[in-house]
Amino acid sequence: MRKKIIAGNWKMNKLAAEADRFAGDVTGKLPDDDNVEAIVCAPFPFLPSLVEKAKGSNLQIGAQTMHFEENGAFTGEVSPAMLQDLGVTHVVIGHSERRELFGETDESVNKKVHAAFSHGLTPIICVGETLEQREANDTMTHIESQVRKALEGLTNEQIAASIIAYEPIWAIGTGKTASSEDANEVCTQIRTVVKGFADEGTAEQLVIQYGGSVKPANIDELLAQSDIDGALVGGASLEPDSFLKLVEAGT
Ligand code: G3P
Repeated sequence: MRKKIIAGNWKMNKLAAEADRFAGDVTGKLPDDDNVEAIVCAPFPFLPSLVEKAKGSNLQIGAQTMHFEENGAFTGEVSPAMLQDLGVTHVVIGHSERRELFGETDESVNKKVHAAFSHGLTPIICVGETLEQREANDTMTHIESQVRKALEGLTNEQIAASIIAYEPIWAIGTGKTASSEDANEVCTQIRTVVKGFADEGTAEQLVIQYGGSVKPANIDELLAQSDIDGALVGGASLEPDSFLKLVEAGT
């Protein structure tokens, strides 16, 4: 059985003291359950302190992006080695905001996924369609292409250890959630696509999250679906109570 993985994506929110307060509020209260994992993907400046505060708890700390190169003349960038060195365990790759606003491409996503595995980081790989693509019935063509390119060249073991977050762009931060059935339909198709180039066992192990206006009020319905194994959550992950409720839902 696949674990449920609930990951908060704080995006560009909070100040250091607020991040620390969040960790203090949640670390002792997270469920002790092997079937659910809780991750917070925070801005770079908060990572060292969050990793420290999360030690010995069930909270894991992730980054929201990184470069794929080991080091060098890349002003402003953060390398996978730096994240590994800090004790970060996960990294969000190819979030639609990175693709749209910061020029991330399928090619850079693939390089980052490989770099993550080379440094012991679990990639949370985001894929998702725009409203125009959905309305033109192009959702699956687009998602299939993103998934294939992101996972290109990985071993089956690496594919099985990856996390894919299906985030329809029109549902992000809009309050519009895809219906749980629609979200599940895409997640099921993602698994089918992966079965096509990896083996069935690998595809069955792959964790597929849904993201887009997930909140305590809709998480149960989403997690009850056959192929939704967790959630990547923006707004509703910012408050400790709401984050704890989302994680509880995975138990
Ligand atoms: O990565 C999480 C995300 O983009 C969804 O954000 O605020 O709609 O939960 P939100």
